[in-house]
Amino acid sequence: MGINEKETTGSMHMYESALFKGLTGGVIRPGGFAITQAAMEWCAFAQDARLLDIGCGRGVTAEFIQAQYGNHCIGIDCSRMLVREGLERNKALELLHGTAEALPFEDGSMDGVLTECSFSLIQDKEKALYEIKRVLKNSGKWILSDMYLRSAEKSLPNDARPVSCIGNAFILEELYALLFEKGFRMLHFEDHTRALKELMANILLEHGSLETFFQLTTGNACNLADAEGRKQKIGYFLLIAQKE
Ligand SMILES: C[S@@+](CC[C@H](N)C(=O)[O-])C[C@H]1O[C@@H](n2cnc3c(N)ncnc32)[C@H](O)[C@@H]1O
Repeated sequence: MGINEKETTGSMHMYESALFKGLTGGVIRPGGFAITQAAMEWCAFAQDARLLDIGCGRGVTAEFIQAQYGNHCIGIDCSRMLVREGLERNKALELLHGTAEALPFEDGSMDGVLTECSFSLIQDKEKALYEIKRVLKNSGKWILSDMYLRSAEKSLPNDARPVSCIGNAFILEELYALLFEKGFRMLHFEDHTRALKELMANILLEHGSLETFFQLTTGNACNLADAEGRKQKIGYFLLIAQKE
């Protein structure tokens, strides 16, 4: 079992904590459904489009997409616990335990892929990019929302890296170069840093400090003092790319 597949014995992954449910209403990221909605409206998928949410967590986005847009949306996540919780909540959802690096779907079987605050956490991005491209149809769209570093000072504490999206925030220039190299064309970009700031403010109101929240959600101490000073420089984005 790799680090991504850990159950919650010992130290747990931040996003598996039930504390997120109260803060974000089910999703485990900034922005709630508003960013998903913006992306779905921008993409305007046909009614019969088949979508895949990679790093789907408890499957709330898949459920939202099916209810709002009528598209069949499959979810896959490496956390057995989150997939189990999602299926316990709604047995009708198609949620699978698996990893982005080895997607159990046929070539060209998806019209769209979503990675909402999950691509930053994927350990082998080269493999995941290969897989995302493989399962997408030609001209299929990839909805990617995630953290990015907005300043020239591009580093964060190492102890935040394995468990949080913030610790793995992208440098946009590097991300664009990687997507281009792997055969994706950039279609659209939106800044949603305000949604991240709102989430941070809610965490501070509820728990007093980011360190306390980190400790409560992971069981580990993390010195985020450095990140605290820089947190205004972390942003959140929505990007829509297309398989060339
Ligand atoms: C911050 S949570 C976001 C969950 C969900 N997309 C949402 O917006 O609520 C990141 C998710 O990515 C999953 N994840 C991380 N690495 C993964 C991988 N290599 N393959 C599949 N899922 C992964 C985690 O288990 C977690 O559920």
